[in-house]
Amino acid sequence: MLLRCPFVTSCGDRRYLLSGLDSKTHHTATLEIQVLGVAMKSFKSGNGASSVQLKNHITCCRSSKEDSSSSVRQDEISVHGVSNKVVGVLGGGQLGQMLCQAASQMGIKVMVSDPLENCPASALAYGHVVGRFDDSAAVEEFAKRCGVLTFEIEHVDVAALEKLEQEGVDCQPKASTIRIIQDKYLQKIHFSQHGIPMPEFREINDEESAREAGDSFGYPLMIKSKRLAYDGRGNAVAHTKEDLSSCVAALGGYGHGLYVEKWAPFVAELAVIVARGRDGSLSCYPVIETIHKDNICHIVKAPAEIPWKIKELATDVAQRAVRSLDGAGVFAVELFLTKDEQILLNEVAPRPHNSGHQTIESCYTSQYEQHLRAVLGLPLGDSSMKIPAAIMYNLLGEEEGEQGFALAHQLIGRALNVPGASVHWYNKPEIRKQRKMGHITIVGPSMVNVENKLKSLLSKEDKISDGLSQATPLVGIIMGSDSDLPIMKEAAKVLDIFGVPYEVRIVSAHRTPELMNVYAKSAHKRGIQVIIAGAGGAAHLPGMVASETPLPVVAVPIRGSQLGGLDSVLSMLQMPRGIPTATVGINNAENAALLAVRTLAILYPEMQARMIQYQQDMTDDVLRKGDKLMDLGWEGYLDSR
Ligand SMILES: Nc1ncnc2c1ncn2[C@@H]1O[C@H](COP(=O)(O)OP(=O)(O)OP(=O)(O)O)[C@@H](O)[C@H]1O
Ligand SMILES: [Mg+2]
Repeated sequence: MLLRCPFVTSCGDRRYLLSGLDSKTHHTATLEIQVLGVAMKSFKSGNGASSVQLKNHITCCRSSKEDSSSSVRQDEISVHGVSNKVVGVLGGGQLGQMLCQAASQMGIKVMVSDPLENCPASALAYGHVVGRFDDSAAVEEFAKRCGVLTFEIEHVDVAALEKLEQEGVDCQPKASTIRIIQDKYLQKIHFSQHGIPMPEFREINDEESAREAGDSFGYPLMIKSKRLAYDGRGNAVAHTKEDLSSCVAALGGYGHGLYVEKWAPFVAELAVIVARGRDGSLSCYPVIETIHKDNICHIVKAPAEIPWKIKELATDVAQRAVRSLDGAGVFAVELFLTKDEQILLNEVAPRPHNSGHQTIESCYTSQYEQHLRAVLGLPLGDSSMKIPAAIMYNLLGEEEGEQGFALAHQLIGRALNVPGASVHWYNKPEIRKQRKMGHITIVGPSMVNVENKLKSLLSKEDKISDGLSQATPLVGIIMGSDSDLPIMKEAAKVLDIFGVPYEVRIVSAHRTPELMNVYAKSAHKRGIQVIIAGAGGAAHLPGMVASETPLPVVAVPIRGSQLGGLDSVLSMLQMPRGIPTATVGINNAENAALLAVRTLAILYPEMQARMIQYQQDMTDDVLRKGDKLMDLGWEGYLDSR
């Protein structure tokens, strides 16, 4: 039996018929193949114009020709995933690979089109058509095999996409969006017309216009290629006007299509991933910070450690930018944060993005799953973070060839020993310097925790530093003097029972006010989540710390020689509005620690289970004593103690 279809499928006697486009005749070349087993194999038609990777052994094939009109999209393929549409992705790099991973979880079938036979997505895709995504015939042929067409790269043949859209092919996001985005200069014009704040920019066509731009914008001056730019490869920085000609030459000359941007004096680079569903609904991921090295994304920190009002501003700019574009999917909006707290747009990618890799481990819905949901018209997922902090490190090729692979794998080996680290390797057949080969995401309870783990991982020491095994303190126990320690140590003992990492410090509101200030302002950045502060003498420490920290502060009133600690309790109760301080009974540091554990249990379910056990143990203890009292009578009970 032979099954005729424009797509790989299975039939009774394990024979298949495939069709692909003959690049010379533009007729469909149909190949009959016989399949055994389930291993992956690829093959090409005679002239190599089109080939499909199968997840089966191919033992023989023959080719025939037929009219290309027969190669229309057919929905006869039986698909029973979360959606029955086949998602076609132009591009089969690492982004395509991670889209396939997300798709497999939901039983969604993803076909990729990529010129590289061994492209990263090929091993995971439901089908891989070997074809250039900037070749209109290949794009057209591919699109007709898919229920919805989307992208992992914007450098595709957009005229072909527009034609396909007119013919009814469902492109998400829309071809008009790809047209705007793939030309960075057009992109800048588009966003400026929509009132999005950006560094000033100007087209340059010759030496004179370049010099004029330099005079007007000043130096350093960012020169960019309009098209086919990624990973900083289309950028050159002119530090003085003398640099202009060499920068222009490095970018391929004026004929290549260049423009300049005024230097953005940024203090941080941020990004917001915005998802838009087919119904127009938007869902934004938390603002993240990207750190670039040599124009290539090096590290991503999630969430960005910036004031809330800047997060709101960044999210607002990102949403406005995305609203100005058409179609569904995720969009990565790259932003600059300037010293004067302005947000400027750098560029937008209409697809999953390097700055969103960490969403796989850190968010309820990864950007890859979200993109699939969006383009398929499924409800958007929750884009919030499910853990407090994540850091992503791009594994770039350090050397060419085997040496490069060996170095990368040394780092991977170390990462496998880091708690909270996940390794992603893109399976690229060749390694080159600065090429993105994989990435490592580390998640944890605080940014300082994941940063320390990354530092330890990247240090060149043979062994991953012991720092890794030392847990970051979650509770800070502070007191104004060592005379409070006999009371405050009880808090430490309780935290030991619950296995909560803590630090004990002397920080005096009166004798070391500056240290107290620094402590209060930085504790949350170091991963501390609750502060327990001794309130002795004038009882200033907990209140002053509470006014500087965003963390919950629990005061332990210390019994003093004059007023018995009542002065401290009342002082804590009388904190002014807006600066809350919890307080426990006089000298009751145990309760302060138990309150800290209950607060942490919101984040750590294991701690809550331990707390329930602790409460049960207390109940059992009291019941046991009650039984004993009944058994022995009060006199016998007292005698037995
Ligand atoms: N106007 C500017 N002023 C200062 N720095 C800039 C400017 N434009 C770009 N950069 C720097 O160069 C980096 C890369 O720029 P851009 O995003 O335009 O390039 P790209 O090739 O698209 O990079 P990617 O593929 O990583 O997004 C930016 O992340 C930023 O660090
Ligand atoms: Mg960029």
